[in-house]
Amino acid sequence: MALMEILMRELWEISDLVVDYDAESLERRPVRRSQVVATLRDNGQRWAARIASRLPADDDVLDPDAVDRLLFRAHAEIQRLSEEFCQGERIWKVLGPLVEILRRQGVNPIRVVDVGCGLGYVVRWLARSHPDDDIQWLGVDLNKALVTGARRLAGEEGLQCQFRHANAFTLEQSAHVFLSSGVIHHFRGDGLRSFFAEQRYQEPFAFMHFDIQPSWASPVGAFLFHRARCQEALCRHDGYCSAIRAHTGDVLLDAARDPEEKFNVRLFDNNERLIPVFRVMHALVGIRRELDDAWCTALGSNARRLGKPI
Ligand SMILES: C[S@@+](CC[C@H](N)C(=O)[O-])C[C@H]1O[C@@H](n2cnc3c(N)ncnc32)[C@H](O)[C@@H]1O
Repeated sequence: MALMEILMRELWEISDLVVDYDAESLERRPVRRSQVVATLRDNGQRWAARIASRLPADDDVLDPDAVDRLLFRAHAEIQRLSEEFCQGERIWKVLGPLVEILRRQGVNPIRVVDVGCGLGYVVRWLARSHPDDDIQWLGVDLNKALVTGARRLAGEEGLQCQFRHANAFTLEQSAHVFLSSGVIHHFRGDGLRSFFAEQRYQEPFAFMHFDIQPSWASPVGAFLFHRARCQEALCRHDGYCSAIRAHTGDVLLDAARDPEEKFNVRLFDNNERLIPVFRVMHALVGIRRELDDAWCTALGSNARRLGKPI
């Protein structure tokens, strides 16, 4: 590969290639290991191709149970990182003031949906810290094994929250608030635009999506951090890769812009001028225009962390 091609290519995360779902039934479709390895190798990702070539397969079809066990372990490691980065507290800073406003407006129950919840760390944190009867905490994921794991953990912790194996955008009862953590960089180009359009279409009060903030330091930081804190080769690779794939604020704003202007869309904690280690995460927040003033006021001093709305 020519140098420019190598620098400009879109990297793959292994976890995105080793699972495939039927869009209607969400049943798993067989994935050929040789295909995953070839995709990674052809993209110049030799480290990732080596990891994929070692995954258990039967007659070249990846063993779905072994893949699920691996994703479970990888998500358990992601949970540890979320704990260290205080992801629950960070989300509540943005969500909490909105919950207060919705309460005052008499919304009951307030349905909060975590899109791509994985093992449900964020939902479990929120349900444990805010076990209020008027909030329905719901985590949704396409991966059944992760959802089963999330349910089990919530049961062991005695938490009032729910988990569904589903597409978060085709739930029979739509969300009042959509949120996610560490998910949006998995959506690229038109996929990212659809991700936001599908949510606006459901007419929630707000959506808020937290992810790594890209910077000159984040790939090195992510590499060292995942090397030090993760055992799974897949997690080490994908964690590093996530930092490279993380969307800039401009890309997020452009993809989430609301052509109907029902939502004010802006960034939270996006400050590329700061020394980047102080702002590891940022968020894209969309909020119904009629709630915007009240929400900004309710944020108090944290309103300083908001970017300009579009
Ligand atoms: C990086 S993982 C989960 C990260 C998780 N939020 C955490 O913090 O551990 C991204 C997840 O998003 C899920 N996902 C992607 N699109 C989805 C959708 N439309 N509905 C539900 N889950 C989705 C995938 O199945 C995958 O498990």
